[in-house]
Amino acid sequence: MTSYKELGLVNTRDMFAKAVKGGYAIPAYNFNNMEQLQAIIMACVETKSPVILQVSRGARDYANINLLRNMARGATEYAHELGYDIPIVLHLDHGNSFEVCKECIDNGFSSVMIDGSALPYDENVAVTKKVVEYAHQFDVTVEGELGVLAGIEDEVQSAVSHYTKPEDVIDFVSKTGVDSLAISIGTSHGANKFTPEQCKRNADGILIPPPLRFDILAEIEKQLPGFPIVLHGSSSVPQEFVKMINEHGGKLKDSVGIPEDQLRQASKSAVCKINIDSDGRLAMTGTIRRVLDEKPGEFDPRKYLGPAREALKQMYMHKNIDVLGSAGKA
Ligand code: G3H
Ligand code: 13P
Ligand code: ZN
Repeated sequence: MTSYKELGLVNTRDMFAKAVKGGYAIPAYNFNNMEQLQAIIMACVETKSPVILQVSRGARDYANINLLRNMARGATEYAHELGYDIPIVLHLDHGNSFEVCKECIDNGFSSVMIDGSALPYDENVAVTKKVVEYAHQFDVTVEGELGVLAGIEDEVQSAVSHYTKPEDVIDFVSKTGVDSLAISIGTSHGANKFTPEQCKRNADGILIPPPLRFDILAEIEKQLPGFPIVLHGSSSVPQEFVKMINEHGGKLKDSVGIPEDQLRQASKSAVCKINIDSDGRLAMTGTIRRVLDEKPGEFDPRKYLGPAREALKQMYMHKNIDVLGSAGKA
């Protein structure tokens, strides 16, 4: 058993309390490899932002849990070396069983998500409560989820029954004891969130997707005043990187993400954690494609992973400063 405290990590409790009070959101960036982790830490130290390092089940399979734990330890030491000890959380993203959550808690994670959102309500309550009872013995914090995010193929506009039902949230939180709650108000996972046909054009010709359901968020906040709320599926799908990928041999579909001003608005509410993965994938892939296309003779991975890391760092800094408002809060 490794406690996250030995790794220099923190849980989400204080971080979320401050974020809710201060009207900003903590960035939760997914990582699977060293360059992504370096970019996240460099960006968050430079902007003095707290950060949540997210590990999905896929990342666990890809990178190995022992390596990931030690990378998180390295991240705390790296931040220190860069000159600023930002609070860092190591979080399991979309844990799907008690066993997976327990394994992560036993391996130094300071926060876990148990995603029972696809289960019948009572089963979601039961498994979430079981994870909370185990996690809290070690001061690890737990995120639960109510409502189902639209998948890539779903018609977001018509998926009304997937939205979180505000009338359920008090019951769920009090029965399970979760520390934060992920909700569904119109975001969705992946790079293909909205097709151009689902959007309207503004005066500048920019495609604007259907707005998030801020009315549902407001109702949830009324039911649970000050309780930490989490938004998944919050990539904005930067068009510059979609273009870069397609101009250098890629073939991505036209797609629109969550507009930054809507995320900015959400960050000012009880939304205190915003999950971003796809935008990092787009920035990294676009940059690697561009470099390899422009320099076909290049075969040193550092020559394309280095620029990709720099593009990621710039993007994360922009999000911390201009979108989430977490810059300067560490
Ligand atoms: O919410 C899901 C994350 O984007 C992680 O995706 O399971 O492919 O690592 P992944
Ligand atoms: P995106 O696919 O919008 O980046 O969402 C990531 C996420 O929710 C991770 O849990
Ligand atoms: Zn998610």
